[in-house]
Amino acid sequence: MAEVGLKAAAVRLMVREMTRHYISFRDASKEEYEAIFQRAAHFKGLRRGGKSLYPHLAGRAVGMIFNKPSTRTRVSFECAINELGGHPIVLSSGESQISRGEAPSHTARVLSRYLAALVIRTYEDQELFDLAESSAIPIINGLTNQKHPCQVLADVFTLLETLGEEPLEDQLIAWVGDGHNMANTWLEAAAVFGFGLHLACPPGYGPDLAVYKEAVADNPKIKLFESPQEAVKGARAINTDVFASMGQEKERAKRLKDFAGYQVNAELMALASPKAIFLHCLPAHVGEEVTEEVVESPASLVFEEAENRLHAQKALLEFFVPRL
Ligand code: CP
Ligand code: NVA
Repeated sequence: MAEVGLKAAAVRLMVREMTRHYISFRDASKEEYEAIFQRAAHFKGLRRGGKSLYPHLAGRAVGMIFNKPSTRTRVSFECAINELGGHPIVLSSGESQISRGEAPSHTARVLSRYLAALVIRTYEDQELFDLAESSAIPIINGLTNQKHPCQVLADVFTLLETLGEEPLEDQLIAWVGDGHNMANTWLEAAAVFGFGLHLACPPGYGPDLAVYKEAVADNPKIKLFESPQEAVKGARAINTDVFASMGQEKERAKRLKDFAGYQVNAELMALASPKAIFLHCLPAHVGEEVTEEVVESPASLVFEEAENRLHAQKALLEFFVPRL
């Protein structure tokens, strides 16, 4: 019996070690992203043609844990899972035993026996690493304080759709505003794809230093600025995010003051490339980090970007969840 137990433990370890997780944007290579984007375009074409069903997850369930609010991530993943023939199971904050302190190693081992993958939106990346350590199914980051890879996946896909034949690595992308989860993830994307990235953040609100240093080591075209006007000069895309993210509500008044001058408005857009597009992960606080004029302008791709979450995440699930 002891020998059988040891074998089972060895198999469990092997499955765990073979399982790939998507916690940071760096968890896939440039070549893998190229394949994922091709499939995302295929899924988008199918759906636009009225054919949304594809059976990759047929008969299987994907779990989603939300410890923070969500509109796009929740609905786009629910639709993606359904349209791949799977069944989404959503647990909001406080609904699972995690909120009562069940060990991540137990939660991950139990959920691995039911689910094909687990999407989780929470506070710290470490919570995902703790689950991943014991998980035999992919753990997919649906946003943490540090990262938002599923969003940047859709953003880069949107950018590629716009660029057509223009090479991605020749572009300059500008980030204006808070150096939080979105900015960190754009840094990782710049490291993976090699495009230029200029970030303009107010003093004290820069990106995570370790993420920045690692990204710059791989891509010297990444630069930090204080002046949004300097950062956006000639940029092919200007990208921003709210000044106070989820979990920072108490800092909102101070942040509104500290971020004065970091609004994306028509004057700032005019300093970028004449072909510049505007990106925002949404939800937006219109009138704070961006003006209504910019959100509603022809340069704004924010709703296309939101739609692309669905197509890109279908491709991501297909790539990360092995077919049975
Ligand atoms: N962009 C994004 O992740 O939106 P939600 O917070 O609505 O999921
Ligand atoms: N930075 C924002 C992104 C929302 C999608 C937040 O974390 O609230």
